[in-house]
Amino acid sequence: MANQIRWGVISTANIGKGRVIPAIQKSSNGRVMAIASRHLEKAQAVAGELNIPTAYGSYEALLNDPNIDAIYNPLPNSEHAEWSIRCAEAGKPTLCEKPLARNAAEAQQMVDAFAQKGVPFAEAFMYRFHPQTDKVRELLAEGRIGDVHLLNASFTFSLNREDNIRLNKDLAGGALMDVGCYCVNVIRLLTGEEPVGVQGFAKFGEKSGVDESLIGLLQFPSGVLGHFDCGLRSHRVHIYEIRGSAGRILVEEAFTMRPSNEYTIKLWQGDQYQEIKNPAVDHHQLMAEDFADALLNNRPPRFPAQDAVENMRVVDQLLATARQRT
Ligand SMILES: NC(=O)c1ccc[n+]([C@@H]2O[C@H](COP(=O)([O-])OP(=O)(O)OC[C@H]3O[C@@H](n4cnc5c(N)ncnc54)[C@H](OP(=O)(O)O)[C@@H]3O)[C@@H](O)[C@H]2O)c1
Repeated sequence: MANQIRWGVISTANIGKGRVIPAIQKSSNGRVMAIASRHLEKAQAVAGELNIPTAYGSYEALLNDPNIDAIYNPLPNSEHAEWSIRCAEAGKPTLCEKPLARNAAEAQQMVDAFAQKGVPFAEAFMYRFHPQTDKVRELLAEGRIGDVHLLNASFTFSLNREDNIRLNKDLAGGALMDVGCYCVNVIRLLTGEEPVGVQGFAKFGEKSGVDESLIGLLQFPSGVLGHFDCGLRSHRVHIYEIRGSAGRILVEEAFTMRPSNEYTIKLWQGDQYQEIKNPAVDHHQLMAEDFADALLNNRPPRFPAQDAVENMRVVDQLLATARQRT
């Protein structure tokens, strides 16, 4: 490998076209060299629009390309495992979209497949690379709000198409899989603990059969409590809040930050209030650069893939407890 990673993209997914491919193209250590689709004409159209040199009419063809160093996998959730495992078998380091799989058992199989081959693997939870997230972690580590007792998070938006993959049960759709997984992830990230008590409550769509709204309660071994809501039918909100014995942190735009915007953390310490501005960055670009740098320097990606399995364990319990009540 030279000093640039040659990426290949599995599918013409919107997230790839709209965010991740442009982010890799801007990155300091990566280039997008190929895109594959189940339909050659789709791959060719996107390759033409986004200036990608090679288009393939099958995902296999991309995996067989010896000139590809790393794969970005933004397939529907139900397809993540099969195609990521095929990437592992082909010896291709892979950055796979969130949530990693349909469930924790499947996620563990994926992580094990990469570990057995000694091939790097990571989950694409990009918000973790935003300096805003690092800043919140730093404020907590410095004890700026005292002992943390409560965390809450919300991630909702309103889908505008009924044929969206998020409303398809067979493709592992649902609010928790799509956006609630961010809430679980950030609460686990900020507490640094795994919950011992997990309860979900959901409204399942009559037609879709997926959880279209869900709330979750999380109890951690230290006594910290977390709660969150997520949904596919409500006004757009992506927010989290942490309350401690001596203060409060509020992050009002928490997960899908735009590259051109600055984001502000609100911090209360006793009676004092301040706003902490964070620079405008492209968190997808930072994520892609981390993965490429890991490959170039033979080090693990910043966030271990096993974290994705632990996240899925919580997702599994939330869905199982929510379904028990229907
Ligand atoms: N991290 C983030 O910021 C972020 C944001 C949005 C979504 N995501 C994640 O990215 C993934 C893709 O989401 P998206 O909204 O971009 O998806 P999408 O636009 O619906 O694209 C999914 C692609 O998968 C391929 N595909 C393969 N089998 C399919 C099937 N049975 N049905 C439908 N499509 C199939 C299709 O590509 P071809 O026809 O070209 O083969 C399709 O274009 C999901 O896992 C989602 O959770 C992440």
